[in-house]
Amino acid sequence: MAITMDKLIELLNMDLELEYSAAIQYINHAAVMTGAAYGSIIKELKVHANQEIGHALILSDQIDYLGGSPSVKVGPVRISDDNVQMLEQDLAGEEDAVSRYKARIEQAEELKEFALAQQMRAILSVEQEHAMDLKQALGR
Ligand SMILES: [Fe+2]
Ligand SMILES: [Fe+2]
Repeated sequence: MAITMDKLIELLNMDLELEYSAAIQYINHAAVMTGAAYGSIIKELKVHANQEIGHALILSDQIDYLGGSPSVKVGPVRISDDNVQMLEQDLAGEEDAVSRYKARIEQAEELKEFALAQQMRAILSVEQEHAMDLKQALGR
């Protein structure tokens, strides 16, 4: 089934809500995570939080440009009191983001929205880096 602009805007709004929730989740996890062994990943989570906000800025601009209205809803936020479980929650979010942005690049290209596709590629490469950071912290 061919993608339509309305459907693409709806999907970009879902991505936007999940960027807001990722930022909130990283801010929470960086604050509650404890232990000297986690010092470097805690710093990394704070960097991720800011990058997710950057993605939200890009998505909001793109949605507006395409004629949609950018969502201000926030997707689900997962919390835990266990360091490893928090990192697993963050990794699951990043793996979901990677697969969503891969689909979004194809959908943008199908509609010949090449500048949007380029922006989605830039976000995808950052999400892949986030996933790698988390895998490394989890010893994988
Ligand atoms: Fe992101
Ligand atoms: Fe991310």
